[in-house]
Amino acid sequence: MNMRILVVDDAALNLHFVTSILHQTYPHYDIYQCQRPRHVEKLVNEKEIDVLLLDITMPEISGLDLLKSLREKLSSDDLQIIMLTALDDDDVFQTCYELGANDYVKKPFNKVELTSRLNHAIKSIQDHRQRKQLINGIKEHNNELRRVNMELQMAQAALVHSEKMAAIGQLAAGVAHEINNPIGYVSSNLETLNNYLHKMTRYIHQCREVQEALEKSEHIPSEALAVQLANGYETQKLGIIMEDLEGLMADTQEGVERVATIVKTMRNFARSGDHDEKGWVNLNDLIHQSMMMLQNESKYVADVIFREQDDIEVFCNQGQIGQVLVNILNNAVQAIRSQEKPERGRITIGLGRTEDKANIIISDNGPGIPKEYLSRIFDPFFTSKKVGDGTGLGLSISYDIIVNKHGGMLAAHSETGRGAIFDILLPIHDHQESGGTE
Ligand SMILES: Nc1ncnc2c1ncn2[C@@H]1O[C@H](COP(=O)(O)OP(=O)(O)OP(=O)(O)O)[C@@H](O)[C@H]1O
Ligand SMILES: [Mg+2]
Repeated sequence: MNMRILVVDDAALNLHFVTSILHQTYPHYDIYQCQRPRHVEKLVNEKEIDVLLLDITMPEISGLDLLKSLREKLSSDDLQIIMLTALDDDDVFQTCYELGANDYVKKPFNKVELTSRLNHAIKSIQDHRQRKQLINGIKEHNNELRRVNMELQMAQAALVHSEKMAAIGQLAAGVAHEINNPIGYVSSNLETLNNYLHKMTRYIHQCREVQEALEKSEHIPSEALAVQLANGYETQKLGIIMEDLEGLMADTQEGVERVATIVKTMRNFARSGDHDEKGWVNLNDLIHQSMMMLQNESKYVADVIFREQDDIEVFCNQGQIGQVLVNILNNAVQAIRSQEKPERGRITIGLGRTEDKANIIISDNGPGIPKEYLSRIFDPFFTSKKVGDGTGLGLSISYDIIVNKHGGMLAAHSETGRGAIFDILLPIHDHQESGGTE
């Protein structure tokens, strides 16, 4: 590391003596000299001096004044100042230290003393430079870490978002299928109804024709009219139509109601999922809605059995808890499907409560979770599924919702080959109002 040393003394002889010692001792350093105190501050700035050897007694400006002025701008970390003096006055030394001098050397100069004090000053500057480098290195490192952390957070947010989008896409496909079914028979019923309507209209026309004929002439025998009307009734198959109508209307009504229920479920799920709004939610209803969301996934794979309870209401975020149920149910369906067994699997949902907590237990008779996975399934991105089949975020998001957002508990129990059990405990009342996690 290069050093820049400036010697200031109004006496040329001293100046020459000191600088020649410096040149000999530190041949690689830049050594400057100055006889005019007025130029000192400018030189210190321009040459970025590290160590200043400053005479005290000088005309124009005294060394003490210069010392004071320099110390207002530069600390010892940036400029070491060694006072040079022929005085032997303790008060002067005291003042020197008070004004910020680092050391002093008495005249006449002793080479050993001069260089050892200089070495000390140089070491201080070098130490400071190293510290500065270290701090800068750490700062750079910190900035880099901050940047990487931000990138990771953004990547995680993007993944969570894409996981949600994938889940929404999957569910939307299922729900579309569910809606398609009733829409299918409602529209076929409407076609039949339209057909019936034509026939009925035709019959009404016939009736009008008979009525008009009656008004024009009173000589048509009433039996003939009755036969004509009866024939019309037969031709249009009005008897069958009348019988069919009631069933058709009831069917159509049922289909429309089914679509309405599915749409309501979707809206319930969509609402408040992303925000942390909470309200009183009936868990029986929510479980039914979640089962319906997954019906398309589960219907060929497993029977989903819900042991319903008396109404249990919990203060929670409906969309988020719904998302947890769908995630866990979806995992169970996927696990059972992965076994590729000919017989249907079974998923059981149990619901219960204690005084202040609701308990939902979802168990399946799928392959179970290997022991070595069990401690990792709630970790973000842990998945045993093939690339593209699972992001491994379902359970970590569920854990965050139950534990952090609702102050509840989520645990899994399983043994390979014996299915899996997911146990959810939810505080009935708002956990934040009742004083933190319970
Ligand atoms: N019911 C279950 N039976 C067997 N293994 C399960 C069950 N539920 C979860 N797992 C295991 O836990 C892992 C993590 O589940 P998680 O829902 O977090 O992610 P994923 O289902 O793999 O992917 P994603 O939910 O993002 O589609 C799964 O990959 C699976 O190995
Ligand atoms: Mg999953």
